[in-house]
Amino acid sequence: MPNSRVSRPKHFLVCEPRHFAVQYAINPWMHEDTQVDVDLARGQWAELIRAYRAHGHTVDSVEPVAGLPDMVFAANSALVVEGRVFGSLFHAPQRRPESTAYETWFKNAGFDVQHPESVCEGEGDLVPVGPYILAGTGFRTTRDAHREVQEFFGIPTIGLQLVDPYFYHMDTALFVLDDGGDGLEANIAYYPEAFSPGSREVLGRLFPEAVIATREDAMAFGLNSVSDGRHVFISPRAEALADQLTRHGYVPVPVDLSEFHKAGGGIKCCTQEIRS
Ligand code: ARG
Repeated sequence: MPNSRVSRPKHFLVCEPRHFAVQYAINPWMHEDTQVDVDLARGQWAELIRAYRAHGHTVDSVEPVAGLPDMVFAANSALVVEGRVFGSLFHAPQRRPESTAYETWFKNAGFDVQHPESVCEGEGDLVPVGPYILAGTGFRTTRDAHREVQEFFGIPTIGLQLVDPYFYHMDTALFVLDDGGDGLEANIAYYPEAFSPGSREVLGRLFPEAVIATREDAMAFGLNSVSDGRHVFISPRAEALADQLTRHGYVPVPVDLSEFHKAGGGIKCCTQEIRS
């Protein structure tokens, strides 16, 4: 274990929660009658952006669209690797228009966007790590989309079966601690029971040194975290996981996005990474 882990500057795309609300229920966290404190949500979100910038990361913002209350969850808009953008096609009809709004941002920023033919929810289910893309399925992104992703990027794409509806996107049950550049070993943290037995075995073979989280950590959105290789932006409610990370030489940076948990989202869901 390195004594001092090194932070790598990242480029993020986010969407201000100006129109954030819980107006429909498309995952077990959401209830139609839920009131969201929009001022609190905006304050929590601003804190996340401040934390990213304070740690040397670049943050760009896409203009929010009225009537798209989940658009704040930027991670679902695409997967971007080596400047190539694979866009989204949402499972829920309520979210489908978000793809166009994000695509406009990418085009204006000079990127071409490849359209998925099958349901695909971006970094919600697609996680580049080391020489692979880990690809969740079961609730949203389809196996057909995994095949499209592999064909588009030419990166081995490993399908993993999600089995617990509370962890409907893979990024609620797994995150990348080190993405494996600069000669560092790629590593992840995850909650095994969110995956089928075979998928658990795959993760065990690929990442024998992974940090294993508990259901409590996962239910506190502790696995919906963002790591820069040193700092881990993490829910302060995932205390046991934060302690484990500290023992592994990482520096937890607590950011509370509790208002967004009402929609089934946390830190990573609000963060799209742009890998150039
Ligand atoms: N309400 C949103 C949905 O169910 C939350 C999305 C969270 N995003 C994520 N990357 N896990 O689609």
